[in-house]
Amino acid sequence: MSARLPDHGIAWDELRPRMEEAGRHDADWRGGRLPMFIHYAGDDVLDVAKQAYLMYFSENGLGPRAFASLDRFEKDVVSMGLGLLHGGPEACGAMTTGGTESIFLAVKCARDRFLAQRPGGNARPQILMARSAHPAFDKAAHFLGLEPVRTPLDADFRADPAAMRAALMPHTAMVVGSAPSFPHGVVDPIPELAALARAHGTWMHVDACVGGYFAPFARELGADIPDFDFAVEGVTSISADLHKYGYTAKGASTLFFADPDAFALMGYAFDDWPRGQYFTHTLVGTRAGGAIAAAWAVMNYLGRDGYLRIAQRVLNVRRSMQAGLEAMGLPTIGRPELSIFAFGSPQRDMGAVGRGMGARGWTVGYVNDPPGIHHMLNLTHEPVVQQYLSDMAAVLMDPATSAQGRGTAVEAKY
Ligand SMILES: Cc1ncc(COP(=O)(O)O)c(C=O)c1O
Repeated sequence: MSARLPDHGIAWDELRPRMEEAGRHDADWRGGRLPMFIHYAGDDVLDVAKQAYLMYFSENGLGPRAFASLDRFEKDVVSMGLGLLHGGPEACGAMTTGGTESIFLAVKCARDRFLAQRPGGNARPQILMARSAHPAFDKAAHFLGLEPVRTPLDADFRADPAAMRAALMPHTAMVVGSAPSFPHGVVDPIPELAALARAHGTWMHVDACVGGYFAPFARELGADIPDFDFAVEGVTSISADLHKYGYTAKGASTLFFADPDAFALMGYAFDDWPRGQYFTHTLVGTRAGGAIAAAWAVMNYLGRDGYLRIAQRVLNVRRSMQAGLEAMGLPTIGRPELSIFAFGSPQRDMGAVGRGMGARGWTVGYVNDPPGIHHMLNLTHEPVVQQYLSDMAAVLMDPATSAQGRGTAVEAKY
């Protein structure tokens, strides 16, 4: 135990430089050298998010009666999100604190509906998903008493509907599709998966944590991906993170439902204690008013044309990186159409390639199946594409990273 509460408070003037010093060795995200964790859309957007956050810094989303402002912001955000994702007149939803909470709540709703419809059955309900689905589903299954079942990917690294059909059981409580998956950035065939779920009366969740606020704009700009949202019949719920490609402050996601009956499974009410009625529709109690306010402000600040402009620039970054890497013999894995891509070659030891880039100051993310290097892009990467490619060319020329260790597995860590 190295830190203890100081006996006497320390002035902010003294604390501030200490905090700046603490971050001195963090990854250089502003310099575009970090392949994930950040979704930067320009200093102007950051400034709007920060100002709105600070304006509602102390307010609490737990109290819609006290903070009509936050209640209104949340309703507006949900409505704007549903507008992007083809929500019908019955569709509804709420803000949560992040992708994991959205997924957790969707799993809870699916489980509760499953248990209500199949009373007495003692098989543990299952979540059926492809190998590329996010670990948040396993985490939710672990906490909520479900069994996760993962199926192999197709040749394009997408969920394989035939494999999922074969694995579907009477006690499958939820079918999951990703739009896109985190490892390869490809969109699963949601219409096929939803048809499968619908034929079995199973809950269909689309994990659009990454794509929810990016894919609608990328499609408008010509990205070739099939329908993935409530336009697809049979989709029951969708998670879409605002703190990723909504470009808002961290601590903000949305969870949407096709109808109010599904949404009703999410809330929790309790009144058998001295303080009377308690109700939340999300998992957490207190919710940062700032995160709700910042989401409202950034969405309104950017508008459709703002999101389109940023999406176009991110797509250009991805295409330039792909083309440059491909020309060096490092092809893209699968056919990603959005903001994530991974690349690698079985002729190369991708771990050694990554270490070479690391030595040149790039923080490297990996995928391990197949071995490759992973990028989740944003506008910090735009000015450094050429630098990245020329560093990669130098790494490939280096005898230490050339042909030896072909196809060697990499250790992919967060
Ligand atoms: C596809 C996908 N789903 C869910 C999540 C979880 O989101 P969070 O980290 O906000 O909990 C992520 C995070 O990267 C993701 O990529």
